[in-house]
Amino acid sequence: MALLPVLEGLHSAESFHRAFLDAFFERAREIEAHPLQFEDSLKGRLIAAVFEEASTRTRLSFETAAHRMGARVISISDVKSTSHAKGESLLDSARMVGSYADLVVWRHPRDGATRLISQAVDVPVVNAGDGRLGHPTQTLVDLYTLYREWGSLEGKTVGIMGDLRNGRTCRSLLWGLSLAGARVVLLPATGLDWEAGFETRVLERSGLRSREVCHSLFKEWTGSESARLIEPKGLLQGSLFRDHTPRLDHLDALYLTRLQVERGGKASSGGYPGIRIPQLRDALLESCLILHPLPRLAEVPVELDQDPRARYFMQAQMGPIVRQALFLAMLRPDVWPLPDLAPLPSGNPEHRLGPCQNPGCITLQEGLRAPWRVCGRKNRLFLCSYCDSKLTVEYVGCKSSKRVHPIHSQEVMKIRPENLRPYVSRDDALEEGYQWGG
Ligand code: CP
Repeated sequence: MALLPVLEGLHSAESFHRAFLDAFFERAREIEAHPLQFEDSLKGRLIAAVFEEASTRTRLSFETAAHRMGARVISISDVKSTSHAKGESLLDSARMVGSYADLVVWRHPRDGATRLISQAVDVPVVNAGDGRLGHPTQTLVDLYTLYREWGSLEGKTVGIMGDLRNGRTCRSLLWGLSLAGARVVLLPATGLDWEAGFETRVLERSGLRSREVCHSLFKEWTGSESARLIEPKGLLQGSLFRDHTPRLDHLDALYLTRLQVERGGKASSGGYPGIRIPQLRDALLESCLILHPLPRLAEVPVELDQDPRARYFMQAQMGPIVRQALFLAMLRPDVWPLPDLAPLPSGNPEHRLGPCQNPGCITLQEGLRAPWRVCGRKNRLFLCSYCDSKLTVEYVGCKSSKRVHPIHSQEVMKIRPENLRPYVSRDDALEEGYQWGG
């Protein structure tokens, strides 16, 4: 049994928490300040990097991180050259790669891929981007870039703009910023907002609330003068009595993202939001750091590169340092431990529900049943435990009372999580011996 904390893998920024982030940033700072001290810290270790999607920064910065600490790397960057081309399943490929290496980094076009992979692999698995779902190490890079500037993210106001629906860096960043104590202004491109259920989950987990704020620049960017601000509860009680939307007076950072064309993102006829150089003179952006996970398209003009507020190349430069800190915590916890990440439930595979409704879910590619996990403070919400999409559930049984109730019944909230049994059809429940509880 491990005596020290061991990070068993990183799949989602939902696993972050304040103690982890604080310790992580301190470790990254140590590595940045004293790189030579870590030169041989992973000597004798082997890291596998499998990239089933295009990448420049993520793959090279993982590999750089490994090389800087004396580890060796095996990698796949063209999945067509592997036995996937002969029909090998992801689980079989992963089982094999995991048996060769001490740690596996995987990028995959499907949502939830690394959570599935981790079921078959005994070594830590790191998500290097899975479909539109998440990119947690990019979030560590983004947060560390801001931490270097400010020392703490607490109370800072950060905008996230662009294709929220398809942008995995945006989803992970919302988790990261809200768990680090920042206020977040959401500026989705027209028609490219994420589903309300995702934001509700973040608000519930972080104890935050959402309200509207406005600024004339928002209209130039997204077509709407108002945006959602996510912040700690109770900050602005006075605003409950206002009859207008409060104006935001400054942003500490703005995170732009490109349109995710490869995931079906389409710009509206009004165009896609980006910064225009004259907008940089607006007081809203006076001391606003400009971030972007890259690659960029037209949303960040090259003329901005020389502006003292630009930080996107600095972000990319921090990539190897951040990934070094992660490797150390996973492979050398005896010397460089970090607090454990919050575990994500592995999910319950026992049910008679239909397949996951998310066409991008890894379970559909692999022909697997989606295990469920449950969340929600006001209503029980059953999620695919791989891709976090809402599963269709109409009735819920209690394994202890053997009664079944409609999903929105108050009785369902009283059932202990370990006794939940979700159904689409009441007949399925009755067939399994449940009594109708109304
Ligand atoms: N930011 C990022 O994920 O870049 P790459 O796609 O180049 O890895």
